[in-house]
Amino acid sequence: MNQVTSMFRDTTSAFMGYRSVIVSTLLSLLVGIVPQDTGLAPKKFLSLPLGAVKPTGWLRDQLLVQANGLAGHEHDFYDYVAQSDWIGGDSYYSNLEEAGSYWFNGMVPTGVLLNDSTIQSQTLQFLDYVLDHQDSTGWLGPEMVEADATLAEKVVPALHKFVALANSMLHEGQGLEDWTKTRWEDFVIVLQWLYDFYPDGQEDVLMDTMKMLKWTGDPWEQVFAEANFPKGPVEHLSNPFPVLTWHGVNMAEGLKALPSTFRYTHNQSDLDAASLGWDLLFRYHGRPSGIYAADEYLAGLEAVRGGSYLYQVIGDPKFADRVERITYNALPATLTGDMWSRQYLQQQNQVAAKNMTPPYSNVFGLEPNYPASIDSVVRRCCTVNHPQGWPKFISNAFVTTADQQSVVQVYLGPFSTSATLAGGNKVTVTVDTLYPFSDALNISVNAGKSFTYSVRIPSWVTGGTFAVNGEQAKPAAPSNGLQGILVPDGATTINLNLPAQISLESRPHGSVAIHRGPLHYALDIPRTQRILTQNAQEPRAADLQFTATGNWQYAIDPDTLTFHAGTPTGGRLPSPIFDSGLSPLAITVMACPIDWDLAGDTFTTSPPTTPACTGPATNLTLSPFGTTKLRIGEFPTFKAS
Ligand SMILES: *[C@@H]1O[C@H](CO)[C@@H](O)[C@H](O)[C@H]1NC(C)=O
Ligand SMILES: *[C@@H]1O[C@H](CO)[C@@H](O)[C@H](O)[C@H]1NC(C)=O
Ligand SMILES: *[C@@H]1O[C@H](CO)[C@@H](O)[C@H](O)[C@H]1NC(C)=O
Ligand SMILES: *[C@@H]1O[C@H](CO)[C@@H](O)[C@H](O)[C@H]1NC(C)=O
Repeated sequence: MNQVTSMFRDTTSAFMGYRSVIVSTLLSLLVGIVPQDTGLAPKKFLSLPLGAVKPTGWLRDQLLVQANGLAGHEHDFYDYVAQSDWIGGDSYYSNLEEAGSYWFNGMVPTGVLLNDSTIQSQTLQFLDYVLDHQDSTGWLGPEMVEADATLAEKVVPALHKFVALANSMLHEGQGLEDWTKTRWEDFVIVLQWLYDFYPDGQEDVLMDTMKMLKWTGDPWEQVFAEANFPKGPVEHLSNPFPVLTWHGVNMAEGLKALPSTFRYTHNQSDLDAASLGWDLLFRYHGRPSGIYAADEYLAGLEAVRGGSYLYQVIGDPKFADRVERITYNALPATLTGDMWSRQYLQQQNQVAAKNMTPPYSNVFGLEPNYPASIDSVVRRCCTVNHPQGWPKFISNAFVTTADQQSVVQVYLGPFSTSATLAGGNKVTVTVDTLYPFSDALNISVNAGKSFTYSVRIPSWVTGGTFAVNGEQAKPAAPSNGLQGILVPDGATTINLNLPAQISLESRPHGSVAIHRGPLHYALDIPRTQRILTQNAQEPRAADLQFTATGNWQYAIDPDTLTFHAGTPTGGRLPSPIFDSGLSPLAITVMACPIDWDLAGDTFTTSPPTTPACTGPATNLTLSPFGTTKLRIGEFPTFKAS
């Protein structure tokens, strides 16, 4: 029984993988299919099939850096997903279920977005392997061999078979293991995908399974209610619900639960509860880098994914603003520039990255902290999990309105996309920009027929303008965060300019964090690097220790903050971009040295409140947070004059 329940959880998590593959590979064959009226409420916005939105410019380069780094090489050497381990090995199943599905979920879109045939053949092999081992009861396990056919013919029946089994188990009270009960929403979203696109006459069992999952799962509407929500570190509080509901990653996934159930409860209170939960999470646990504090750094990445889904169902621009901040700040800050080493825990004020024996969690390496064996269960999350952020962000950058009359650009950055709108209106869009390292975006649209192009104007923009076909620029006047622009048939160019003021965020102990536009700025502490270990098969997968070689004990005068926009040589950003000294943007500020102690070897104490200057003021340069690996991101303040 134990084995069965854990298989249920694992297979549910493997479904995340299936969903990607179906969405990527199959849906791309089915562009333009419109969900039938099935009793599920429509989302506000419809996502485009994977591959319809491609990265261009610096963002394509960033995805290439990821493919050329640790993410793209895991299949060659990394124990948990290397092919030699899942074909035939005894440990195959335990590796496959958790590690495999995470890896798959990141690498399917990476392979498609880069049109990388090596990665695509690795993910196809993996899919075949999983499907070939679904047994006769429906388990996606190692026991059975299934007939070969095209992907659609293989995957959809396999899913329906699994749904029938899951449904009967749920009715018998089986398969309800603690993790399953927190992460049920991911399974619901897969069921809705089947319902929308391949119901195959199974509407009733699909709907019943969705309802059973909500009914037997953790009650997210209550976890996210103001009265129950943890408003401080959870170790000092008692959770009225199952303890896993306060796990950082589960909370991020739980944010999707209520928008997913809204589609069948049609209960506005589900959407309101999700929106409130989002606000509470960031109000009480938020960080200036965009993420919230949690016990797993991947909360950041999970929030990227959850945020896109919330935006698509609810349409509130706050979700999209937050996703952009996480992607352009917290995500790159937690990896080395070349993306060969990642952290487990990221600190807002991070003055060293060292082995503290234990913990090992802020070292940049192959697998700091996790995988680890906890209560004799091996947790494999993080090395296999980290590649999901960039491709998911890119794939969700454009959506269409539910009536498919309009294309909506949700995220700002360099992309190209094509979509067929209602009435067969074929539209292609190319966005040429260095954003977030520039305020200017040049958008080229080609349309078969006139339509309204909508583009998100972030809440931080002041004095934004748009100009169509070189005519006089007009002030942006967004409605619910979107600027609609009427585009005629044929070719149109739109020049967007989205400036922003420097803004201050109040942080604990009277300290401040600095933002301008989507970017958060920090002092980039100069560092030396020492290699702690290297993987025997793949020496580029190294664990790195960083030691500060410059002062970081400063107070700043916020009245002297000045933004400097540089233009990179040749109009192109360097590759990679997210490392020290590479950003064309900077903020300067008058600062003075202060006394500020370490807590132990590697942590700062809290920023001192109203510290005294211990030396003359100096002009300090702050850099985008994502380019810093050692940093101060929350400063004490002083008055320069
Ligand atoms: C993808 O790459 C293949 C070769 O591997 C090529 O034939 C195909 O045209 C490429 N597709 C796109 C959309 O670039
Ligand atoms: C809607 O949600 C509220 C709050 O969770 C609940 O009390 C109510 O019963 C729900 N209504 C329906 C029709 O599901
Ligand atoms: C955008 O267009 C303007 C005006 O045509 C041009 O000066 C600028 O270089 C373009 N910028 C980018 C990033 O393409
Ligand atoms: C600080 O340095 C920047 C960049 O060199 C310069 O533009 C700015 O004027 C300086 N500020 C002060 C107050 O000296």
